Amino acid sequence: VTIVMSPGLVGGEPSGHFLTATEIIARAHEVLSASVWDYVAGGADSETTKRRNREAIERWSFRPRVLRNVVSVDCATTLLGARLRLPVLIAPIGSLQLVTPDGAAAAVRGAAAGGTLAIVSSVSQPSLEASGCAAAGPRWFQLYLRGDLDWVGEMARRVEQAGYSALVITVDAPVYSIRERQLRHRWLPPSKSVGSSGEEFQAMLDWGTFARLRERIRLPIVLKGIQTAEDAELAVRHGAAAVYVSNHGGRQLDHARAGFAILPEIVSAVGGKLPIIVDGGVLRGSDVVKALALGADAIAIGRLYAYALAADGADGVSRLLEILEHEVRTTMAMLGVASLTELRADHLERGEPPAGGCDPFPFLLRDIRM
Ligand SMILES: Cc1cc2nc3c(=O)[nH]c(=O)nc-3n(C[C@H](O)[C@H](O)[C@H](O)COP(=O)(O)O)c2cc1C
Repeated sequence: VTIVMSPGLVGGEPSGHFLTATEIIARAHEVLSASVWDYVAGGADSETTKRRNREAIERWSFRPRVLRNVVSVDCATTLLGARLRLPVLIAPIGSLQLVTPDGAAAAVRGAAAGGTLAIVSSVSQPSLEASGCAAAGPRWFQLYLRGDLDWVGEMARRVEQAGYSALVITVDAPVYSIRERQLRHRWLPPSKSVGSSGEEFQAMLDWGTFARLRERIRLPIVLKGIQTAEDAELAVRHGAAAVYVSNHGGRQLDHARAGFAILPEIVSAVGGKLPIIVDGGVLRGSDVVKALALGADAIAIGRLYAYALAADGADGVSRLLEILEHEVRTTMAMLGVASLTELRADHLERGEPPAGGCDPFPFLLRDIRM
């Protein structure tokens, strides 16, 4: 049984490996400049949405079942035809070249080595082609609209040719938010300082345009940034391939609801017709298990893997995924479930967050402001 020991403590592994996400984050904090750290860690305005993402996760407690024979625990799954070792996706992050020299290509390599899927941001370097051929693992491409339907059609052709199997259109960013952590540095990420012409196309996007775009494009289209049951129903009706519940990690609309708080209404609106992905505040395997129990098919991580990339490039990401997989398996075993399909809402109870707030990483130095 491999689940009894932390991955780093299983015999024969190099001793320099990170053993915990805490160690990865601490290392990222050492190597990133203050402005890049704040670019990654920050949210919009007062960062209330970002805080809510964690709070919503912390409100759920587990109701474990015992005597269930969990000698073998399976956390593998399939999403839009992609086989995943663990239902944790690498969310799209712009300007990743600031975090590690190979940028999004390193994220694709790390995800492939960890047995999961990377979503490459349209505002990260290197090019979509260079990131697309960085590894053979499953990958999707996230698109911000910067042109008309012909432009989108041409982008979709390149995306398909580069081996991506789905297009992810981000719909929670009709305009760019106000990011105060970043403004303190009088600094903008490259995605904002160059190549941001055509932003009006993102603002003009509506369901009618989406329907025309859907007709033209062969690739499955995932809608990222759905935050209400009403829009989830529209996504189903308009032929989306999956609903991706997200508030952009609290980086867009402030005072929005948390991904984990929205999830139940989306699960009931979608009614099993499409896969559901959720993100926002996921930092540990237990968070992943909670989302699955609430009815999500997969979870995405953003900042957490950006820290892993900063700490050790693609190897940092695959190590992080190993750590998360171990956490997911141990949580499942202690809940009494041997496969993901056994996870149900009655494994959870919603209540108040732990008194005094919950600290996902109690052994992280206090001066690190996540
Ligand atoms: C530094 C950074 C850049 C991001 N860039 C993009 C992007 O280019 N496109 C996009 O759809 N989402 C982007 N996001 C949002 C992520 O895809 C994801 O929704 C979010 O990070 C999830 O929350 P988490 O960081 O708490 O895990 C970005 C997030 C961060 C932290």
